Amino acid sequence: PGDGLALTPPMGFNNWNSTHCRAEFNEAMVKGIADIFVSKGLKDAGYQYVNLDDCWALPQRGPDGNLVPDPVRFPNGIKAVADYVHSKGLKFGIYTSAGTKTCNENGFPGALGFEQKDADLFASYGVDYLKYDNCNNQGVDAKLRYTTMRDALRRTGRPIVYSLCEWGENQPWLWGKDVGHLWRTTGDITDTYNSMLGIAKTNWALADYAGPGHWNDPDMLEVGNGGMTDTEYRSHFGLWAIMAAPLLIGSDLRTATPETFEILGNREVIAVDQDPLGIQGRPIRSAGGIHVFVKPLKNGDKAVLLFNEGEKTERVTTTAAEIGLPQATGYKLRDLWAHTDRHTAGTIAATLPPHGSAMFRVNADRGWAKYPPAVDIGAALQ
Ligand code: GLA
Repeated sequence: PGDGLALTPPMGFNNWNSTHCRAEFNEAMVKGIADIFVSKGLKDAGYQYVNLDDCWALPQRGPDGNLVPDPVRFPNGIKAVADYVHSKGLKFGIYTSAGTKTCNENGFPGALGFEQKDADLFASYGVDYLKYDNCNNQGVDAKLRYTTMRDALRRTGRPIVYSLCEWGENQPWLWGKDVGHLWRTTGDITDTYNSMLGIAKTNWALADYAGPGHWNDPDMLEVGNGGMTDTEYRSHFGLWAIMAAPLLIGSDLRTATPETFEILGNREVIAVDQDPLGIQGRPIRSAGGIHVFVKPLKNGDKAVLLFNEGEKTERVTTTAAEIGLPQATGYKLRDLWAHTDRHTAGTIAATLPPHGSAMFRVNADRGWAKYPPAVDIGAALQ
């Protein structure tokens, strides 16, 4: 909200989608993820925040009224974990709810009425990111609850990215820009194609409201959790990138496959998400389960996502003119999954399997003789 934070969509990790409250959410996991961010090049690719979700605290506040870290999960406390994450050159995030308790049925304490106390505690831990949930909110007005925590965070003097997690219930796209840096637009994602697709559709209709420092949040990534095929995970990641969504990895990278690292580490797709213009891409044509998305990029290129939502293989076609590029003798197509350059007179096409997608960067071709002609890029991709 005008404070210079999150000028591109936040990138990082959050444990929720892979662990929920299970015991493997603990200090070893968090440190392990930070290690992998560095060792596998994800930090260099832009992933920065290592964030804790629900269930990090004990069910009761301590005698001083402060939240108490669960000593089984975090035997050295939270500050030690934050320090470790910071020592890797990364940033650290935490979670609580704008209610009397968090969302988990075990009822961990929330921050409603304790906003400044909890914000001060988080700042003393070295927190750089707060996800603020909506459970047990006692019917108090959402904008009031979220603004109270915004002001408490500001009073700490620490720059903290502030994630509003009220699931799109109070149209946060209409007021969230002045309150937080991102707002959830939907309920929780699950690791299925239909969940991912439904959330994408709600989120892509809200493109007008996103921009640098204030993003629509279609929830955290499921890539690598096992409930979708790699084709579906590529579509998931490509959709999130073209929508300039936060890219919060939600799988346990300690057991991730090479394909998961290849998807999450695709720097050309990440560059679309992180483009400094900060425009949320949108479908310029959607019919019969075929979607053509365009996202204008700072250097004048257009990012294009061709997406086949349905159950049959489809040849999907657009043109340079349809995606809004000026007339030119030819265009360069950069395939962001195959990492190849092709030349086209104007047609941009791909043959896509069910639930499949292709992603390109397109612009007038100033070196076309170098590139082989594009016959059907997508066919080569599959
Ligand atoms: C809510 C949020 C989720 C997660 C859980 C934790 O459901 O929307 O993202 O934080 O709470 O209990």
